[in-house]
Amino acid sequence: MLSEVRIAPSILSADFLKLGSELESIKTADYIHFDVMDGMFVPNLSFGPGILSQVKKATDLPVDVHLMIAEPDRRVQAYLDAGADIVTFHYEAQTHALRTIDLIKSSGAKAGAVINPGTPVCALESLINDVDMVLVMSVNPGFGGQSFIARTLDKLRSLRKMAAEHGADPMIEVDGGIGAGNAEEVAYAGADVFVAGSSVFGAADRAAAIADIRKAAQAGLNRRM
Ligand code: DX5
Ligand code: ZN
Repeated sequence: MLSEVRIAPSILSADFLKLGSELESIKTADYIHFDVMDGMFVPNLSFGPGILSQVKKATDLPVDVHLMIAEPDRRVQAYLDAGADIVTFHYEAQTHALRTIDLIKSSGAKAGAVINPGTPVCALESLINDVDMVLVMSVNPGFGGQSFIARTLDKLRSLRKMAAEHGADPMIEVDGGIGAGNAEEVAYAGADVFVAGSSVFGAADRAAAIADIRKAAQAGLNRRM
């Protein structure tokens, strides 16, 4: 179990015309969250492996690649080749989850499975011992700036319980509608890695926004431990 929370700003909310300085502005974070959307699995398009290689050259932080794409098993290699440090794929989008996890891990990256708000935690039971991370979506994926879905708190609690029952201890990441105002209760419910898009990039002082989320989340984690 992580004893310190990790903050992963989503560059989906960055100004793409100045991505270099936007990356520089979040260097106090722990990960860069890289949201890949294909216009099929989600109704929006973002960026792919070409931009990922450029981002990797411009930052020292590990890049956490969130694949919101159909058939991730057929596309994942391109993101591994581009230097992804963590790759998460949607449980709803794939057929051969364990094969995809093996492929990701064999390249030396960390592997994670993602569940949408409408997918139950029990869907992950047969792969909970194989993943390094579970990402629990707290909005329906596709867009930044949406409101946190409160039922996510129950899912985080049941995921922690289910993982413990299986002797598994994956990082638990939460994504969507996270900010300093709710990070404490979200951490208390079970999350230890916090994606934040609009709450970081919408702030003039990104380092302060990251520090505020970190402080709130750490308070929740400390209460849970
Ligand atoms: C949603 C993406 C998120 C999103 C988070 O589809 O996976 O990572 O950019 O943005 P906020 O923090 O604004 O909800
Ligand atoms: Zn994401």
